[in-house]
Amino acid sequence: MLASQLREKYLNFFKARGHRIIPSVSLIPENDPSALFISAGMHPLVPYLLGQSHPSGQRLCGVQKCLRTSDIERVGDTFHQTFFEMLGNWSLGDPASPGGIGPDGYWKEEAIPWSFEFLTKELGIGINRLSVTCFAGDDNAPCDLKSAEVWRKLGIPEKRIYFLPKEDNWWGPAGQVGPCGPDTEMFFDTGKPACGSDCRPGCSCGKYFEIWNNVFMEYQKKIKEPTKKGVPVEYEFVSLPQKNVDTGMGVDRTITVLGGLDDSYQNDLLSPLISRIEEISSLKYSQEKNQKPMRIIADHLRAAVFLISDGVVPGNVEQGYVLRRLIRRAVRHGRRMQLEDLFTAKIGAAVIEKMADIYPELILKKQSIFDELTKEEEKFIQTLGRGIKEFEKMAAGVDQDKKISGKEAFFLYETYGFPIELTTEMAGEKGLEVNEEEYRRASEEHQEQSRIGAEKKFAGGLADHSEIVVKYHTATHLLHAALRKILGEEVRQVGSNLTAERLRFDFTYPRKLTEEEIGQVEDLVNKQIQADLPVKMEIMSLEKARQTGALAFFEQKYSDQVKVYGVEGFSREVCGGPHVKSTGEIGPIKIFKEEAVGTGKRRIYAKIAK
Ligand code: ALA
Repeated sequence: MLASQLREKYLNFFKARGHRIIPSVSLIPENDPSALFISAGMHPLVPYLLGQSHPSGQRLCGVQKCLRTSDIERVGDTFHQTFFEMLGNWSLGDPASPGGIGPDGYWKEEAIPWSFEFLTKELGIGINRLSVTCFAGDDNAPCDLKSAEVWRKLGIPEKRIYFLPKEDNWWGPAGQVGPCGPDTEMFFDTGKPACGSDCRPGCSCGKYFEIWNNVFMEYQKKIKEPTKKGVPVEYEFVSLPQKNVDTGMGVDRTITVLGGLDDSYQNDLLSPLISRIEEISSLKYSQEKNQKPMRIIADHLRAAVFLISDGVVPGNVEQGYVLRRLIRRAVRHGRRMQLEDLFTAKIGAAVIEKMADIYPELILKKQSIFDELTKEEEKFIQTLGRGIKEFEKMAAGVDQDKKISGKEAFFLYETYGFPIELTTEMAGEKGLEVNEEEYRRASEEHQEQSRIGAEKKFAGGLADHSEIVVKYHTATHLLHAALRKILGEEVRQVGSNLTAERLRFDFTYPRKLTEEEIGQVEDLVNKQIQADLPVKMEIMSLEKARQTGALAFFEQKYSDQVKVYGVEGFSREVCGGPHVKSTGEIGPIKIFKEEAVGTGKRRIYAKIAK
């Protein structure tokens, strides 16, 4: 089965069962300063899992592009990837479902039989190939006997229903806090012999592949209040006001299993990239020594292409740093395979050819994808050779502890642009380590804290809809409207980024703003805040939203039904929220910086004055 067939089958199956299809959003979370990337299909849905209403209703499905960096070092084996697509179906507390079977609405008695039907009937997986796991229970939540009972009724024999603890059968929150719950996971049994008496679903020997996860999100992990300074934070699990279902099926993983392949780089999404690398290098993937570098190049450049199409450029902090790291690692492995010419844009072209039917942003951003890849590759190959020589010297001079010092690793980073992870990988290839702790200290001394901050952040995503971020979000709407009123309608929002400390707003405009204009914009925003105007939300079709004058500049990401947030007489925008209830809650703002970001684009920073 091709990826395109799987996506279509999945969406049609759930559409026929009352789900509305929602489009994939950008890989870069909007209004969530605590995560660098969207890492699961549910991530953009967090406000709705917590109880906000979704414009498309309570029963949704879709395919979401995701990026996870937690396993980046493992990319190179047969089935780890950084970028992947996740199919999902969701109940946002859907209470009663027409034709539903369970007394709890859309819950275990609906989600599990649907999963079973899809796997066995639509995908044709034999029941004897399926094993499932359920949550064993602990102090926070009881054993999930219900899911097991549903599986049993569907014909899964007792010996293939496993009860496992939290480490295996609890999903979420995406970061430190947020919606989460016990899950039931479905595994494809390849039929290979068990590796030992403890072999079970979740074992990494290659017998079992997880293909789908149904999470029963009825809990919220929260920080126990009040937190005191100096006292470690404690968490608690509280019941959510609604019972949600969140599911996730990886497209790459599933087509690999269905194709009877034991290497996901041979599926129809990744094999064209491998073929392109073979063409360029005149080397064969079938030769074992080429497999790891070819997989790294294919995975990392696919992720890089998607990141660039979502507006990220290589840099030294946050998303830009991850992008830089992906490209540079791919370039290093390319060089090791003797790829002498610039090759990243050629692989980028293969990614676009394969994926543009589903992700049209790749076509729109084609030129910047090629430009950014090539620029970064050129920059890195200027120093790569010399950096490697320097590294070899360092490696030859290590003491008995077999560690490259943190200072040396920092020198490689500063002078030759070697991301620390690259140095660690190179050291590992020689059986050496890097003193990472010392590296961090050296890096901090050189004011590199922001990058370290990013490292911590991308360990996990969390949708932080804390009050302050919500205030900043509403302030961006006021700012957008004020800019258009003062500068004219050529102003269009092209991006925003919020933290608990400030808002950042990108918009189209051909020149620098004068001091006076900045003052006027600020005053106009503050007038709306002072007037304490209500922020109202309505749900309507995208067409109606446009007709009624709502701004909607993010074409690819809207569903057919949208939310429109308005401040009477001032601002009206299509947006998912959340927002403050009235503008007075924000407090006066101060614009503290205005700068260019590329041709025809400006960036404003503002903060809420204390
Ligand atoms: N959110 C769940 C996962 O990522 C479905 O596995």
